[in-house]
Amino acid sequence: MAPSARAQAQQDESHGSLHRPVCRQLKAHQAQIAGVHMRELFAADPRRFERFSLQVGEVLLDYSKNRIIDETMRLLLQLAQEADVAGWRERMFAGEKINHTENRAVLHVALRNRSNRPVIVDGEDVMPKVNAVIGRMGAFAEQVRSGVWRGYTGERITDVVNIGIGGSDLGPQMVYQALKPYRHPRLKVHFLSNVDGAHVKETLETLNPETTLFVVSSKTFATQETMTNAHTAREWFLAQSQAEKHIAKHFVAVSTNRDAVVAFGIDPGNMFEFWDWVGGRYSLWSAIGLSIVLAVGGERFVELLEGAHEMDEHFRHAPLDRNMPVVLALLGVWYNNFFGAESHAILPYDHYLRSLPAYLEQADMESNGKSVDRDGHVVDYPTGQIVWGATGINGQHAFYQLLHQGTRLIPADFIISLAPHTPDMQAHHDILIANFLAQTEALMRGRTLEETRAQTGQASPYQVFEGNHPSNAIVLTQLAPHALGMLVALYEHKIFVQGVIWNLDSYDQWGVELGKQLASRILTELHADVPAGGHDASTNALIDYCRRLSQP
Ligand code: F6P
Repeated sequence: MAPSARAQAQQDESHGSLHRPVCRQLKAHQAQIAGVHMRELFAADPRRFERFSLQVGEVLLDYSKNRIIDETMRLLLQLAQEADVAGWRERMFAGEKINHTENRAVLHVALRNRSNRPVIVDGEDVMPKVNAVIGRMGAFAEQVRSGVWRGYTGERITDVVNIGIGGSDLGPQMVYQALKPYRHPRLKVHFLSNVDGAHVKETLETLNPETTLFVVSSKTFATQETMTNAHTAREWFLAQSQAEKHIAKHFVAVSTNRDAVVAFGIDPGNMFEFWDWVGGRYSLWSAIGLSIVLAVGGERFVELLEGAHEMDEHFRHAPLDRNMPVVLALLGVWYNNFFGAESHAILPYDHYLRSLPAYLEQADMESNGKSVDRDGHVVDYPTGQIVWGATGINGQHAFYQLLHQGTRLIPADFIISLAPHTPDMQAHHDILIANFLAQTEALMRGRTLEETRAQTGQASPYQVFEGNHPSNAIVLTQLAPHALGMLVALYEHKIFVQGVIWNLDSYDQWGVELGKQLASRILTELHADVPAGGHDASTNALIDYCRRLSQP
């Protein structure tokens, strides 16, 4: 073997998926495709939509407006096969500890395993305890919703405050917004996440302690922001109720940490448990979804779980080339690793999905924003993209200029649901759908100089659209619990597949630790009466400046 070939083989061996021989083929293939406009691809193939779209239950994915041909998908699928996506998928579903840096299984799929097939972790089938907690959540929510559960003065609960941050906030909040049409009319849920006193104050000042139920949601029950906010809420409640015994009617906890819940003063009978094999950003299906159950009821929550389960079954059993999460993931890898795209936009054309971009920011970036692979090597290829977005229709009047005529390649997912929850406002919905369709067409087709001249009477280069910008269209029949469950699970599995291809542990999040440690040290220094030391000159000076100007 020639030395250079040997060196290449060693590199292939040691640096995981993105140095496989198929990647050299993908690179060569990208060089050919880079100069091809999607207009030409559509012109050459009237069946492009049929060939590059997939339907799973109520979810349609049209991925024909991507810079791909059959050969692209063949090579990308080969990459998925060589990276052993199917094997890793099976390991996850089987409860193997694929989160190796924390030695944990990754089993959000067990939380919505409506088939009840046994899922074994450390020799124990977790399904009986999963089902028991779902049952307890439903029964508790029913008491609150029906008015059987009352506050300490005998009033019904009108407001629920979920105190949590990250995965203990973004998931329940996103689903609560998405399922607004299904909410109980008396119950309003508030989400208190930011330790900023302004958020706490703004939330509490609208509430009556006699009719408020706090759900303290924290996997660890140790997160500084959540515990600080929970203690403040407790003091606020006690200031009026005047007796600790009343806490039992107004504070419940969702956590994996029973001892910390008890130490906080919450009755363990009011604790809803989950387990270390549920990652924070994958936890809305667990007891972390309690505020969702309170809002929409146990039956609707089960429909959400059933939707996710349907997508799980599809992901587990469909061949890779007809597998929606796999296809979405491979397209993301195509742009990220072969076109140099740095970000990916999430553009829901649905007011109720306005929190989906923020939810997916955490789900995706906390999972795959990593630069050391499973084998401990620093990767030399791009991993997790920057995920961002906003409701599409608003984005059109804000940042779409850059999508259409800027210099960057930004692949985007356009998401819409067809049956509106506002049937009396069909005219509004039609405008949404028309814009949704128009934008993906405009991004793909663009407008040539000749077309510009023909349409505007001027040959202005400023009005030319290059086009050839890739997008996926994701169409739901209706934004109902089942379809929402499918949509969220679709993205979760997409993230999983990309993590496998990039050879990452997608389920730890060590990157959030350093800042947390430094913050607790700096908090002490802010209260000290000696100048800060031991940091760099900038941080020392800023601590002193902040201390002088922010401390009373
Ligand atoms: O940001 C780090 C993180 O651990 C997230 O993964 C998690 O969702 C969030 O903090 C909240 O953690 P906890 O539920 O333990 O309060």
